[in-house]
Amino acid sequence: MRTSIADIRAAYRRGERVPMITAYDYTSAQLVERAGVPMILVGDSLGMVVQGHDSTLPVTVDDMVYHTRAVVRGCATPLVVADLPFMTYATETDALRHGARLLAEGGATSVKLEGGRPVAPTVRRLVAAGLPVMGHLGFTPQSVNQIGMRVQAKESLAARGLVEDALALQDAGAWAVVLELIPAPLAAEVTARLDIPTIGIGAGPGCSGEVQVWHDLLGLFTDFVPRHTRRYRTLGEEVVGGLQAYAEDVRSGVFPTEANSAGMDPEVLAEALAGLDRPARHQA
Ligand code: KIV
Repeated sequence: MRTSIADIRAAYRRGERVPMITAYDYTSAQLVERAGVPMILVGDSLGMVVQGHDSTLPVTVDDMVYHTRAVVRGCATPLVVADLPFMTYATETDALRHGARLLAEGGATSVKLEGGRPVAPTVRRLVAAGLPVMGHLGFTPQSVNQIGMRVQAKESLAARGLVEDALALQDAGAWAVVLELIPAPLAAEVTARLDIPTIGIGAGPGCSGEVQVWHDLLGLFTDFVPRHTRRYRTLGEEVVGGLQAYAEDVRSGVFPTEANSAGMDPEVLAEALAGLDRPARHQA
């Protein structure tokens, strides 16, 4: 059975830290499930790690529905959260329409959206309509052009604002809040003040759980290792090694072999070729 928000809430109340990881397709979702990770985020980070854009801004609701459906098909137990992309929740009507698509067409259990007090009325509206919402504070990638890609809320005013944002999201009915790239002591304080789980990324060890991007954790994104991540595998190297070996085997004729192919009765083949006016140019 799929992990529910009530299950996550119960784990949080028992003091269990909750892991979450991004996934964007069927096969990855299968692997997340096999690893026993209870929550998947179909993040709009797919704009960068899957689509190759330099930000999340070009991602559309159609993209999110497509990837969410693939992920949901790939796993039966993890709770799946899908991001509402840039400018798709600027009005409550838009938020309802697009959020509903992520649940009804995508099969997600919850949406995630970025922002604090300004989006709290939208969160309240979505929750009232039956759409669970995960919040996202701190470095909010959809605002990268305004805030830059750096640790947020380092000054006292901004830090206080972030605490107020978190409380406003909770008050509006959000069931969890992602805290991205904020100082660890601030994240711990926010976590201590909320009755809903905080899910950190670059926010230190004091959150209720952690989310990381698949490509960072597994060494598939090789440009640099962000400080907030840890490489648990170097799959990029593994993949390149495998592809080089494959290419070499094709060049040298070691692969494929007859074991990789279907045979054919020579008489049937001869019959098929009999009388063709074009003779074989190369030896078979
Ligand atoms: O899109 C994403 O992957 C995210 C995480 C970085 C939290 O929002």
